Amino acid sequence: AVRLRVREALGAREAAGEVKVQGWVRSVRSQKEVLFLHINDGSSLENLQVVADPSLENRDLTFGSAVEVQGKLVKSPHRMQNMELKAETIRVVGPCDTWSFPLKMKERHPLEYVRQFPHLRCRSNTLGSLLRIRSEATAAIHAFFQNNGYVHIHTPIITSNDCEGAGELFQIEVSWARESAEKTYFFNVPAFLTVSGQLHLEVMAGAFTHVFTFGPTFRAENSQSRRHLAEFYMVEAELSFTESLQDVMQVMEDLFKTATNSVLSKCPRDVELFHKYIAPAQKVINVLVFFFFSCRISYNEAVEILKQASQTFTFKPEWGCDLQTEHEKYLVKHCGDVPVFVINYPYDLKPFYMRDNEDEPQHTVAAVDLLVPGIGELCGGSLREERLPFLESRLQRYLDLRKFGSVPHGGFGMGFERYLQCVLGVDNIKDVIPFPRFSHSCLL
Ligand code: 4AD
Ligand code: MG
Repeated sequence: AVRLRVREALGAREAAGEVKVQGWVRSVRSQKEVLFLHINDGSSLENLQVVADPSLENRDLTFGSAVEVQGKLVKSPHRMQNMELKAETIRVVGPCDTWSFPLKMKERHPLEYVRQFPHLRCRSNTLGSLLRIRSEATAAIHAFFQNNGYVHIHTPIITSNDCEGAGELFQIEVSWARESAEKTYFFNVPAFLTVSGQLHLEVMAGAFTHVFTFGPTFRAENSQSRRHLAEFYMVEAELSFTESLQDVMQVMEDLFKTATNSVLSKCPRDVELFHKYIAPAQKVINVLVFFFFSCRISYNEAVEILKQASQTFTFKPEWGCDLQTEHEKYLVKHCGDVPVFVINYPYDLKPFYMRDNEDEPQHTVAAVDLLVPGIGELCGGSLREERLPFLESRLQRYLDLRKFGSVPHGGFGMGFERYLQCVLGVDNIKDVIPFPRFSHSCLL
């Protein structure tokens, strides 16, 4: 028999003899004359209907069990589906104790409920759809950069620098280090999990004009927030010979549009599930017009807008203070629930690598944050300080990059989970990653 995925079986144009489908039972309905099963194998949100003679029923054939069905693929008489499988044999490969199985047949479990079962939640519709979308979005992001002439760089996960200087580092030590009397470093220097691949990308931007990386990133954020994880994926790009923040913003926008169009066209049913059942209506974005009305404001303007707000904030808006989530949300609302680029932040707020605007009286750097409805900050980027004198007495190797063929450059990072939250309208970041890690929780 020819082995078919559920997706292939459902999409088949004509009937086929001997075929074999493997998957997990999503529903069992046994009637006097006929036994109906729905099988899912992760290839699509839709299940394949199996029609069988009741004599094929057996007590292991329950919701959740793994099965292999052989039979004939035929046109389905039902309007809702194209094809169905007329079973000749059904083999239960792995039985499932339905009583203790935490997922129940035909139930729409809340996301908080399935989150307790990191080992089983991939068998729920929502996580199934999410993981297919995540996979497509990953491929679409890679395709976007490859098609635009970027070179993909594997930036290291273990590093000796603190790129962002925000002190959210996880330090690495060998497991026996605690016991050994003298404390020695495995790498002779303190080493950390990366908080950003930017510095390594900047090294590469000294030889390739367009580079990107897309990998896991680690931050010891001591928060249970709906938009922070301790381990998340970041997409980062670095562009050489770039003298304007506009160029950096354009790449952010193009990346978002291209990746999202691709996800919408490749996984329409999966995305629909989120927009129909998970996202509150006002959170469903229309990707076609999403950036059409986007706003560009300076940090100065942002602070003015916040100061004039009738709303009272927990953190009083003041020039020189970082924008808090409440501020970001207000700015997005104020601009009409559209993406908002905020540029030129105070020098003292931002990391050492950002380019000095040399402005008076307020001292700012060429930084840009992209804020989006429902999430707040989606991307953070800047022009980089390429001038040696401005960087002296900072990082030695970073300084070397400025001595040997320095060019103006800039780049940004986009949080991949926040991107998925934004496109799908998911409230909690823990629901868009297969195995969420956050303070006090590292399951599996
Ligand atoms: O704004 P951030 O800190 O920027 C950087 O790290 C730059 N070095 C990037 C660059 O220019 N190459 O982080 C970039 C994005 C944020 O805008 C946010 O979307 C996401 O990464 N992010 C997080 N996502 C989930 N959990 C966290 N703890 C995050 N911290 C940042
Ligand atoms: Mg940031």
